[in-house]
Amino acid sequence: MDRRDFLKKTCGTCAAISLGTMLSATFMDACKTASVSVYKATPSQGTIAVPASSFATTDFKLIRVSNYGYDVGVIKNGSSYTALLLMCTHAGQALTKTGSGYFCPLHGSRFSGAGEVIKGPATDPLQHLKTKLVNEDVVIQLDPDYFFS
Ligand code: FES
Repeated sequence: MDRRDFLKKTCGTCAAISLGTMLSATFMDACKTASVSVYKATPSQGTIAVPASSFATTDFKLIRVSNYGYDVGVIKNGSSYTALLLMCTHAGQALTKTGSGYFCPLHGSRFSGAGEVIKGPATDPLQHLKTKLVNEDVVIQLDPDYFFS
C-alpha cells in the first residue's frame, strides 16, 4: 500500500465514522426524553388538582395520574392553562415528552408542544382536557374512558 492508498482508506474511514457519529447524535437528539417536572396526582371525582404555585418556575408540568392510563401535559400560557391527554391519536400509545413536544414510540408520530401533529401516521391533534382555576389550583377534568378498572 502506497501513501496515496493509505490516505484514501484512512480518510474514508474517518469520514464514515464522523458521519455516523453526527447522524446518531442527531437521531438521539430527536428521540431523547426531555427532563421535565413531574407532578403526581390522585384523581377525585374524575378530576385532578395541581397547585398553580407549582408553575412558578416552569411553564410545563407532566402530570402522572394514579389509576389512569395516560399522563397529562399541562402548559401555562400567561394566566391560562392548557391540558393535553398524552395519548397518541393514531392507535392510543402513551407518548413520551421530548424537548419540543411529544413522540410516539410505537409508530413514530410526533406532536408539537401544543398537541398539533408534526409527523404522522397520526392525523388528529392531541385531546385537550378541560381546565379551570379553583382557588389556587388548576383543576383538570380527566377523560373517564382511561381510568383503570
Ligand atoms: S400509536 Fe402512535 S403513531 Fe401509531
